[in-house]
Amino acid sequence: MFFLAVLAWTNAVAQTTIPIPPTLEGMTFNLTPQQGTSEIFSGIQTNTIGYNGAMLGPTLILNKGETVTLNVHNQLGDTTTVHWHGLHLAPSNDGSPHNPILAGADWSPSFEVLDHASTYWYHPHLHGKTLNQVVKGAAGFIIVRDDEEAALNLPRTYGVDDVPLVFQWKTFSADKQIVEMDEVDNEVLVNGVLRGSTLTMPAQVVRLRLLNGSSHRFFDFGFANNLNFKQIGGDGGLLDAPVAMSKLMLAPGERAEILLDLTGKEGQTLILKQFGSQLPQGYPGGMMMNMGGGSNMMGPLDDTDFDLMTISVIAQTANPVTSIPAVLVANTPLSQIGATPRSLAMTAQPMMSMTNFFLNGLKFDMENINFSVEQGKTEIWTLTNQTMMAHPFHLHGNSFWVVSVGGNPPPANMRGRKDVVVVPPMNGSVKIVVRYDDFSDPDMPYMYHCHILSHEDDGMMGQFIVTAPATGTVESVPGRLMFYPNPAGRNVFFEINEDITKGAVCQVTDVLGQVVSEQSAPVLNGKGRIETEALPAGSYAVRILLEGKTYTGIFVKQ
Ligand code: C2O
Ligand code: CU
Ligand code: CU
Repeated sequence: MFFLAVLAWTNAVAQTTIPIPPTLEGMTFNLTPQQGTSEIFSGIQTNTIGYNGAMLGPTLILNKGETVTLNVHNQLGDTTTVHWHGLHLAPSNDGSPHNPILAGADWSPSFEVLDHASTYWYHPHLHGKTLNQVVKGAAGFIIVRDDEEAALNLPRTYGVDDVPLVFQWKTFSADKQIVEMDEVDNEVLVNGVLRGSTLTMPAQVVRLRLLNGSSHRFFDFGFANNLNFKQIGGDGGLLDAPVAMSKLMLAPGERAEILLDLTGKEGQTLILKQFGSQLPQGYPGGMMMNMGGGSNMMGPLDDTDFDLMTISVIAQTANPVTSIPAVLVANTPLSQIGATPRSLAMTAQPMMSMTNFFLNGLKFDMENINFSVEQGKTEIWTLTNQTMMAHPFHLHGNSFWVVSVGGNPPPANMRGRKDVVVVPPMNGSVKIVVRYDDFSDPDMPYMYHCHILSHEDDGMMGQFIVTAPATGTVESVPGRLMFYPNPAGRNVFFEINEDITKGAVCQVTDVLGQVVSEQSAPVLNGKGRIETEALPAGSYAVRILLEGKTYTGIFVKQ
């Protein structure tokens, strides 16, 4: 249906309807990467790659807790991989450069869906060929559903009030073929059709699942007339509560779910725009460094604002969602207590270079495992960027929590599960907290890399293995520790759901992962007290060591 619609467009760009990818549901999915041609420009055939069609691919609907099998039949005429970007799964199922599918061959990973309801995606990940295959059109959505999300009054009728939209910068040659480079991107496609096309949506609360599926450039989304919207989800799940926004930046690989209230707007049109002029310097799509000879880094649409798509508001559906929930889910970020630090530095050679990037001084080497992470152990990764441009850092196999950006707590819309985070240029730094609780594998690594695909293909990537947990660790008992009053004043009282009378050690950690206080406290029938007078306002993680067990919890100081 999607591809029929593509062939039917022969009239002017402004008339084009944005197609909605078809869905695949169930426990077994068949995906066939293949070549084809697509009429992106009226009357011209462009060579493209798609899954089960000429360009892009079907949306896979997965349900948390189900075991799914994904049968990939490679009809591309070239080696490929299919990476399930954002999913928490074993490295052997990940579709990384270590899981190649030769031309004509099949690959059938099978795994339990463990992720939180959110928007994920799939794309090729063959080392050195990722850019080539993705820019030609190989990419599709994955929507994970779960009970927690299902219990909320949110729009979720696919293609009606809940629409996935992939935005992709691309470089077209004069004869409208896709060029396998990404530094001078000259066009933007939305679900595979030219920018400026139209989507119809009913006059009620609607949900847009936005994916920056570009190889290089960032988006700074916003609506004409400064219309506000609410972000409800990030890469790997819903936020605690909707966040009111007027602009939303998405780097390559990042997703966001937003709600728009179109109630009473039947007959009106809304324009979603790119505000490239508002991207900070060094963010691709905005103004890059212009060091004399560097002007060839610029694409013709960089640093400009333009329309991405029009939303044309039609009549309400039968059972519309007409209000936006005040709260969504209760996210509990990973505790930073006892975390092991790790540093990853992004550098360029020479320092001003916009093309030759390294992670900790190295380029990716298929044969070299960069480090190992012990299963079950929390790590805090400090990502620093000593280059002139922003790099979207992506981690495989698991989502992470952003602890700080430039030393400050992350904005509200970044306080959910993430798998891509932008590290700002010119000594920008980001801290993330990471933990792999399962899938240790001594042989098969997980990847981490910059999601700018030319950087990744050129080796701005590394890999690590998750090792089996060391035995004899202290039992950690989360969720058994209560605090009152919370928010706390000069003291906070705690209560453990166990009748213990003994001395405990209490360790208090701030949002940056620093231990700010360590005190011994007598515990009487499971109750005790921590002095908090000296602590600045903020939220704190507490670890209480008592009788060989560790109890963890969080309180807020007023
Ligand atoms: Cu979206 Cu390693 O990739
Ligand atoms: Cu990925
Ligand atoms: Cu990069």
